[in-house]
Amino acid sequence: MQMTATELRRRYLKFFQERGHAVIPSASLIPQLDPTVLFQSAGMQPLVPYLLGQPHPDGKRLVNVQKCIRTDDINEVGDTFHLTFFEMLGNWSLGDYWKKEAIEMAMEFLLDPKIGLGLEKQVLHFTVFEGDEQVPPDKEAASAWEAQGISSDQIHYLPYKDNWWALGDTGPQGPDTEIFVDINTPKCSADCRPGCGCGKFVEIWNLVFMSYNRGEDGSLTPLKKKNIDTGMGLERALQVLNKQPSVYETDVFKPIVEKIYEIARITDPSKGQLRSIRIIADHIRSAAMALADDQGLVPSNLERGYVIRRLLRVAIRHGLQLGIDRFFLGELVPRVLAALGEEYDELVRNKDHMLSEIEKEEKRFRNTVRRGLRIAEKTLDEKGELTGNDAFMLFATYGFPIEMTVQIAEENGQKIDLAEFRKEFERHRQISRDATQQKFTSGLADHSEEVIRLHTATHLLHAALHNLIGPDVYQKGSNITKQRLRLDVQLNRKLTAKELTQVEKWVNDIIQRDLPITFETMSPQEAKKQGALGFFGEKYGDQVKVYSVGDVSKEICSGPHVSQTGILSKFRIVRQKRIGADTLRLRGVLESDDKDDHSKHQEAS
Ligand code: ALA
Repeated sequence: MQMTATELRRRYLKFFQERGHAVIPSASLIPQLDPTVLFQSAGMQPLVPYLLGQPHPDGKRLVNVQKCIRTDDINEVGDTFHLTFFEMLGNWSLGDYWKKEAIEMAMEFLLDPKIGLGLEKQVLHFTVFEGDEQVPPDKEAASAWEAQGISSDQIHYLPYKDNWWALGDTGPQGPDTEIFVDINTPKCSADCRPGCGCGKFVEIWNLVFMSYNRGEDGSLTPLKKKNIDTGMGLERALQVLNKQPSVYETDVFKPIVEKIYEIARITDPSKGQLRSIRIIADHIRSAAMALADDQGLVPSNLERGYVIRRLLRVAIRHGLQLGIDRFFLGELVPRVLAALGEEYDELVRNKDHMLSEIEKEEKRFRNTVRRGLRIAEKTLDEKGELTGNDAFMLFATYGFPIEMTVQIAEENGQKIDLAEFRKEFERHRQISRDATQQKFTSGLADHSEEVIRLHTATHLLHAALHNLIGPDVYQKGSNITKQRLRLDVQLNRKLTAKELTQVEKWVNDIIQRDLPITFETMSPQEAKKQGALGFFGEKYGDQVKVYSVGDVSKEICSGPHVSQTGILSKFRIVRQKRIGADTLRLRGVLESDDKDDHSKHQEAS
């Protein structure tokens, strides 16, 4: 009988619940505790404060199914088991039971056919930490497995890189014991063993013995209360239990994969096609889960939005490789719901948002691709070649993916000079980094009244765009002269006439309300927490200045600004122009019918 995902989740939760664990819900995919982390990448991540000693309201034994996104292995996706989105089954002891009991429970769950996984003892292998100069070999874990009737040739001592688990450089961590299933493929070599990477031994569960906290200086301090932190990848466990060739045959993927075959009209895929099908299936699932996560994320060029954009664009690119020449991602959304909607309400609740963002992104990207293809072909016709610089120009100006330029070049029997591309890429990155630094270190170059007024107007325009056009419309650059402001924002289209009027009206309403402008000094973390706009990808000092306009705008900025919005009199956008694939440049002026009282300018610098 095949194990379904629903049944596996149910069994796991019930098994541990019956052994005193409180079932806790999956936390949002977006970490609430640490704004520097993009997505939850392990079940323990939302529990870090409790793993460091804070009491958990539900007690010392917890169990859940946590949604996770890991992008470190994104380039491996397409093989039989690497995924970007996955579900992690996990149980925790917060200073309660320790190794022996954790291993006893794990063994019972692994073997019992009625309430657990029903695996045969002889297919199981276990790795334990071999020790290093700081921490001894984990004989305690090995003996606990042996006490469960496991023979010593099923237990493997491995080094730090295999059997030490930590989420990042610092925080709660420790040695672990990993559970592998031998799927009975031939040995890759005489040394074939768990962790060798050939795929014969599939890791399904990890039990971490969280015994230390690593500080910023790299030192390990023993935790006052030691914890157990376990994680079982749902998709991999299903694949192994059902003896399926890859995770893509399990029921959390099947409806999606079937639809891709249907859309691409493929029945017997080549190796390359199979990889593309898997990548599309993985990426649409991850993007859908991220978009559905109640936080209103949208594809963009920043942080989480960028991850979503990349996932969707790579999926579309693989669609093109499969010869799919129409919009198709939207058609996969109902299949993601069929696979995961029962478990994750948010997919149902946020279906419209998810679908519309996926469809919009597909449209945008297809336009980009069409434009890029035209230009690449024209360049080829004219010059007879595509250089690394051309590839960079296509990427920077049109957002045309480098992989596609490489492909076009290859089709024409050429090779793109990737080193040249990378050099150009780095050079431009440095230029924009310097520009950003300058914006925050030196502030405004000219402190004339006109410039200060336009500077405040820039903040209002930025806030208006952010509020009215989209939460991802961020400032990319700004330049102010005595005559006009110029604001570059991340947006891949022009504003409609209606939007222009709305934006101007929003700014003018704030001017009319004559709101006060104030500033406070705080840490960048605090600024971010308070929702201040800023370049959080960049390095700030310990303290930043945050300027507020009433309660309508908050932005990291070194100033200066006027003291009241009324001083601005009246704002007008005079021009808009697209510069590159994702940038809209706006020019605005303040009408100069207000020659009255400018004495209220703040002297702040
Ligand atoms: N935190 C451990 C892992 O993610 C269980 O593998």
